[in-house]
Amino acid sequence: MQTETDTQVLAALLDWYREMGADTAVAESTVNWLERGDAAPGHTFRLPESEARARPEAEARAPETRARPAAGPSQSVDSPKNSAPPRASFQAPQAAPRFDARPPFSATPPDAAEIAARTAAGKAESLEQLEAALRTFDGCGLKATAKNLCFYRGAARARLMIVGEAPGREEDLEGKPFVGRAGQLLDKMLAALSLSEADVHITNVVYWRPPGNRTPTPQESQVCRPFLERQMELVEPDVVLLLGGAAAKQVLDVAEGIMRIRGKWREIKSGQRTVKTMATLHPAYLLRTPAAKRHAWRDLLAVEAALGKTS
Ligand code: URA
Repeated sequence: MQTETDTQVLAALLDWYREMGADTAVAESTVNWLERGDAAPGHTFRLPESEARARPEAEARAPETRARPAAGPSQSVDSPKNSAPPRASFQAPQAAPRFDARPPFSATPPDAAEIAARTAAGKAESLEQLEAALRTFDGCGLKATAKNLCFYRGAARARLMIVGEAPGREEDLEGKPFVGRAGQLLDKMLAALSLSEADVHITNVVYWRPPGNRTPTPQESQVCRPFLERQMELVEPDVVLLLGGAAAKQVLDVAEGIMRIRGKWREIKSGQRTVKTMATLHPAYLLRTPAAKRHAWRDLLAVEAALGKTS
């Protein structure tokens, strides 16, 4: 019989899973990953015959679940990885899952996907067309596990374009970038510069939520890149603000960490134009590390000054 304590422990365990980013059910049966043995983590598992028969082929393939737990953007320093789950007594499944060598989610090989992305993005003459192209684009594996496409929030044309890392849970549910806690802080940061959503164009380097809020892989970012480049050409910003290390690395093609590259102006080509870019700390990091807000504030003042000069 399940006691009240059991219920509390199970509720705490579920809360912990959610905190870690494991908030998406990818299959109806649980899988004991510890029984994977020596199989490489990218390999998929097969669902029990009965369940696989009941589901369409594409759906029956489990997406990649070797994600890092939700640590927010990549400059995380106090990752919740160290915290232990609440204890609960639950049993391992009777039958061990069987593994095979099929790749997870049969995405097109990156090269072909990138070429397809460039072709599709290049044809778009407006943001509406770019969004339509993204909706039909199947070359990014993240689409398989995301609920919604998160294209952009704010103005279609804006002098300030803001690029984050990837949609999180709230963003995935709403289909818009930066609507969760980090987004609320971002809005406050912008308000401090007397800017509102109507003055800026906000997006991410990938358009779909990575499972468990992990950092997008270089391949996932790369395949979305032609869309981001075209988006920038269509938005025609004067200044691009990059939030966090993942966005900075992807857009600036640099290997250094965010602490080294933040606060410095760099120029990038966008179509025929040259655009000023600055990387700063990600709002999710600032939520965890309030002492770092002074760095972000300094960067924002530099952005404000640059916008003032180019108006
Ligand atoms: N973090 C991001 O990088 N992007 C979002 O849209 C939300 C959180």
